[in-house]
Amino acid sequence: MTTKHFLDLADVPAADLRAMIEAAKKWKAARVGLDKGAPDPEPLLAGKMLALVFEQVSTRTRVSFDIGMRQMGGGTMYLTGSELQLGRGEAVSDTARVLSRYVDAITIRTLSHDYLLDLAANATVPVINSLTKRSHPCQLMADVMTFEEVKGPIEGATVTWCGDANNNVATSWVHAAGKFNFKMRMAFANGYGPSNETVAWAGENGVELDLTADPAQAVAGADAVVTDTWVSLGDEEDVFARHRRLSPYQVTDDLMAKADDKAIFMHCLPAHRGEEMTGSVIDGEQSVVWDEAENRLHAQKAVLAWCFDKLPGA
Ligand code: CP
Ligand code: NVA
Repeated sequence: MTTKHFLDLADVPAADLRAMIEAAKKWKAARVGLDKGAPDPEPLLAGKMLALVFEQVSTRTRVSFDIGMRQMGGGTMYLTGSELQLGRGEAVSDTARVLSRYVDAITIRTLSHDYLLDLAANATVPVINSLTKRSHPCQLMADVMTFEEVKGPIEGATVTWCGDANNNVATSWVHAAGKFNFKMRMAFANGYGPSNETVAWAGENGVELDLTADPAQAVAGADAVVTDTWVSLGDEEDVFARHRRLSPYQVTDDLMAKADDKAIFMHCLPAHRGEEMTGSVIDGEQSVVWDEAENRLHAQKAVLAWCFDKLPGA
């Protein structure tokens, strides 16, 4: 049997992604009233061990994988890049082979997407992308789940991204639009648009992708308005220019008022009030960011189940 890696939404069949979302919703409901550390009614990953390899900091991804794996009956091991020989130059391919002898799956956060691909190519256990510079597919599983919990099926909906449309989360939103059949609009300053590769992927996969410099035009009638930090991990040298170029794309109450009356505001977090959005937006009634953060847990449990061939319907 081939090893199932979760590296990018673009690589995973749409039906499997849909099955993960449905399982996540069902399993979330089944945990109502249970303590966070209590096992699931049916712990699907008893005896399995997940290595959490993090080369960059994380709150949500790290904690949700850790607690999710425990709820499923398995265990985790947190490994920072600097604590592994990887940090001293051991080949990622050798690290992949060795970790595969000790653990049943690996999730990794690393800026280099090639590094992730190299790890997956040499691992004999599932590898999950916990964020690279290119993409953040786990985040989008939680985002699609959250959208649907609040607003119903995402198919046919219009989602508007404002800000740095070339970052990892933005790219995964485009992939999600192709897999879940919704319309994507992106408003960004010159130089901060999606990569040619992402635009080409959208074209090849029938995504209705509207790109504009005008945030008001982009949000008009939208069902969801999404943003993210202007300075992603690895972009720290460029802070001043990013703030200057992207400040017209701040999500404000005025901008939200141009979207659909029932539009939601989404953000993967961590957020920077007064930068990519005002405090009034992220802390306002249209914001679903705390559900979005919680759903990282439920959605990733479904991703894990899929990797281990334990997902109903996939
Ligand atoms: N949204 C997200 O991935 O958050 P962390 O960086 O805290 O994991
Ligand atoms: N785009 C952000 C996402 C953080 C979860 C970053 O890469 O820092």
